[in-house]
Amino acid sequence: MLFDDFYFKSLIRTVEDWPKPGISFRDITPIFSNPKGMRMVVDAYVHRYIDSDITHIACIDARGFLIASVLAYELRIPLVLVRKKGKLPGKTISQSYDLEYGSAELEIQEGAVNEGANVLLFDDLIATGGTLIAAMTLLRQQGATIKEVASIIDLPDLGGSTKISDLDVPVFALCAFE
Ligand code: PRP
Ligand code: ADE
Ligand code: MG
Repeated sequence: MLFDDFYFKSLIRTVEDWPKPGISFRDITPIFSNPKGMRMVVDAYVHRYIDSDITHIACIDARGFLIASVLAYELRIPLVLVRKKGKLPGKTISQSYDLEYGSAELEIQEGAVNEGANVLLFDDLIATGGTLIAAMTLLRQQGATIKEVASIIDLPDLGGSTKISDLDVPVFALCAFE
């Protein structure tokens, strides 16, 4: 299926002043209630990564899980869960961070990825990059290499994708909202 940018962007709903005044929230829910839209997203990533050397997909709680799990299934590679604090049993390492409208803490289980793993890191949206950079820190602490960051939406004006590129990690997003 050819990627129709205009049609695809029509599946992302903008909600002004949510969750705080001044935020234009980009709601991806309509993608998931539209089977054609969800297939467009998954197919775009399968096409990009099917012949790559990535060994694992890491994805971020919660919205990052939705597409990354389907992609890991399609590519037949392991999925690594980067979760919000307090959700994972056993020994974990954690990293706090700021995002566009708040702050939080992410965790992974010790040993979640092996030394030398080539990871595709997936989240639904890049705003300030705080969330993805915290996840990168955790994965790198476990000896993984982040081969690429993939996302559905980039908000370039918030600077996150530039910050990630400046850390020498390529960024691939399906669409951008200025
Ligand atoms: C949202 C979004 C990204 C993050 C991006 O997650 O899903 O993970 O913000 O913002 P940043 O680039 O400024 O860090 P959020 O934690 O709000 O909600 P979720 O649990 O629904 O994914
Ligand atoms: N996460 C951080 N900023 C966001 C935004 N503007 N829309 C949706 N999710 C977000
Ligand atoms: Mg999120």
